[in-house]
Formats: sequence, C-alpha cells, structure tokens
Amino acid sequence: MAETNTMTKAPIGFSALPDADIYHAEQNFGAHHYGRIDLVVRKAEGCWLTNQDGNTYFDCLAAYSAANQGHHHPKVVQALVDALNNNYGSVISNVVYTDSLGVMLKKVATMIPQLGPRFGAKGNKVLPKNGGVESVETAIKLARFYGYKKKGITDGKQEIIVFDRNFHGRMITTVSFSTTNKYKEGFGPLTPGFVAAPYGDLEAVEKLINKNTCGILIEPMQGEGGMWIPPDGFLKQLRQLADKHDLVLMFDEIQVGLGRTGKMFAFEHEGDDAIPDVIILGKAISGGLIPLSVMVANSELMDMAFWPGRDGSTYGGYPMACVAANAAIDVIVDEDLVGRSATMGAKLKAKIEDVASRSKHVKEVRGRGLFIGIEVNNGDAMHYCRQLLENGVLANDSYGHTIRISPPLVLTDADIDYLVERLEKVLIG
Ligand SMILES: Cc1ncc(COP(=O)(O)O)c(C=O)c1O
Repeated sequence: MAETNTMTKAPIGFSALPDADIYHAEQNFGAHHYGRIDLVVRKAEGCWLTNQDGNTYFDCLAAYSAANQGHHHPKVVQALVDALNNNYGSVISNVVYTDSLGVMLKKVATMIPQLGPRFGAKGNKVLPKNGGVESVETAIKLARFYGYKKKGITDGKQEIIVFDRNFHGRMITTVSFSTTNKYKEGFGPLTPGFVAAPYGDLEAVEKLINKNTCGILIEPMQGEGGMWIPPDGFLKQLRQLADKHDLVLMFDEIQVGLGRTGKMFAFEHEGDDAIPDVIILGKAISGGLIPLSVMVANSELMDMAFWPGRDGSTYGGYPMACVAANAAIDVIVDEDLVGRSATMGAKLKAKIEDVASRSKHVKEVRGRGLFIGIEVNNGDAMHYCRQLLENGVLANDSYGHTIRISPPLVLTDADIDYLVERLEKVLIG
C-alpha cells in the first residue's frame, strides 16, 4: 500500500470534499475524455503527490514532462507570487509591450542553437502560444507558407511528411494526420496535406517527397507512440534530405525537450548536424504551473511567414506565463537538470534493465535520460500501472504496451530505490 504521511495534520488540498464527491462530479459534470486512475491528488511537491488521507505517491509521469523541474518548484512559485503581489502578471492587451514577454523571448531564442542555418545566421525568433498543439499548428502554417511563397507550390497543395504513431496534440489538424484511428474517427472532414512514413525509415521519407512537399514534422523521440528512439543518424539524414529538397524541418520537442532525455534538446543526441529549422517547445518551459508553448524558427523564416494579423492568441505568452517560464528555464540551467537527467537516468535505466532481466513480463527497456519505456509482453501496461499505484507509484502507459517512466528530473537516489523496489515487486512478484 501507499505510505501514510502521519506528519500531515491540516486538511490537504483545494477543498475538503471527499474523494467520492470528486469522482461523482467528474462522472456527472465532466466529459469522459480521459480514462482516469483512482487517485485524487490534493497536493504536489517535487516528485511526490499526496491524497486526502496523506498517502504519498511517487510521480513517474511528471504530467508528460510538464513537471520536469518538480511540482511547485519554489523558485517558480516565488516568481508567480511576486507577480501577483506586485500586479505585473495579468493578461495585458497584445497591442502593447510587456517586459516579462521580452525577457522570455530573448531567453528562449538564445538558448537554442542557430536554427536552419541555411536561411541565415541572424538568430532565432519565438512565437508564443498556450498549449503545445497550438505551437505545432503554428509551425505547420510556417512550413506551408514557405512552400507557397518560396517554392511556388499552389496554395492548398502543400504537403508535409509526418510519421507513423506520431502524436502532436488533439486539435483537428493534428489528429487529421495521426495514424492512430481512435484519435480521429468520425471527426471529419479532416485536414488534408499530410503523408506518413514509418518512423526511422529514410527511404520511405524520400519516396514521399514530391513537388508539393514543403516540410517534415517529427518528434525526435516519440513519447505517446510507445517511447521510441529513432535509429542512429536518422535526424541527421532528415536534415540532409530537407536541405537537398528545400524543405522546412520541424522538430516537436514538447515532450522530449528541456532536459527530459539527458540533453537540453533531444536532437542534440545526434550533434550539430541534426539542427532543425523549427523547434516546438511546451510543457516544462513554464515549470508545470501556467501553460506556455513556443514555436521557434530561424529569424528569416519567422519574418517571412508572420506579420501583424497573421497570427495571435489572447493568452499566448501573457505576462504570468512568461514570469513562470523565465523562472522555470533558469531552474533547468542553474540546477543542471539536464546533467541530472543524464546521470540519474543512466542509473535508473541500469536498475530497470536488471529488473527486466529477471522478469518474464518485460519485452524491452528503451530510453534515454529520464525518458524510459518498459514494453511488456502482454501488451497491457496499465495492468502493471494499476499495481504500481497500489504500491505508491503513479505511472501510465504509452501506446498501450509500454510503461512510461518519466519522473521529474529532480528525483534523488532514494527516489530511484523506492521506484525500483516497486517495479521489482510488480514485474517480478
Ligand atoms: C510531442 C507532443 N506534441 C504535442 C503535444 C500536445 O501538447 P498539448 O497537450 O500541450 O497541447 C504533446 C502532448 O503530450 C506531445 O507529447
């Protein structure tokens, strides 16, 4: 059973409503678009979640990488409290400048190496939004406009190459090119202009390129699709193809960027020759407290595609989100969470591989940094995740067959031991 925190005496959480009332409210007043597991979280701190009874659970999910810095990181919380107390965090009309936005734009543009060097070396520019999917769609707009304006493709005929098992969010355009039927069935008419290649198959990508192709959109490691790493050199080869055929290469690092895989950006595992033209970030960029996502591009590309009236969002990059992001990015850098992800990830993966070698339930362990998947033989990862929950660990599946191990990057050696002990219990018995 989960451990009871006997130190906690004050009521925990936003309300004193019992869990049964929360289940009832969700059941009766909420859309059932998530299959939730039986835990009502009342408090989240670092790597740990607490329920009403004071039971604590190790968070192996970190909100799909949104809580890389750990829940309620004190520096991010302090920055937000200061903004609220000093009246500089509310949404301000986008017709004026705000200083937290300016600071955030510069921080993000300069923390990323020069994107798309073939378009010039005048730096990167950032377009902010809220949820990740919005920034994916903004990147798609950029690539399509590049095809129209620079390559002379007839407007409406532009094509973008995507990959099997892709996940880029849940709005109409992104589900339109999903290869997972349940994400899109019955939601037509779907957005045209996308073709999918098997993940890691360069020859297939090359065959799909035609006169209307304007871009390639890929997750440098696939999170929702089953925790996959592309074959060595694949991203570099995509870079070469994009240069050869004049395509905009877009990396969606919403889940795997910002330290998750043991590098600041997942593409860096392939070195300088795999730099994209566009990178999309979200989730951890604002430390798990306020939604923010960004589409970052070579500045020439950004200026080519966007001018007043071409894009916008009321809350996209609003002061409060930027305050959170400025603090959250500083935490990643100042606390070397990237190095921590690499070191702790290597330790954790070695221990998981040891458990796997003694388990008859594990098919494969794969991953980098603190982005680790345990694929199970029976194809039902949730079967094990439910047992993990009973033992004080919150985890879920990726693509049905893989247990996702992606805790906050601030986990300790003691946390690793706690987690491995529970994995051992559940996977070996
Ligand atoms: C790779 C990737 N792209 C896009 C998204 C969508 O982000 P959001 O849910 O913030 O819209 C996700 C979310 O999990 C993701 O993992």
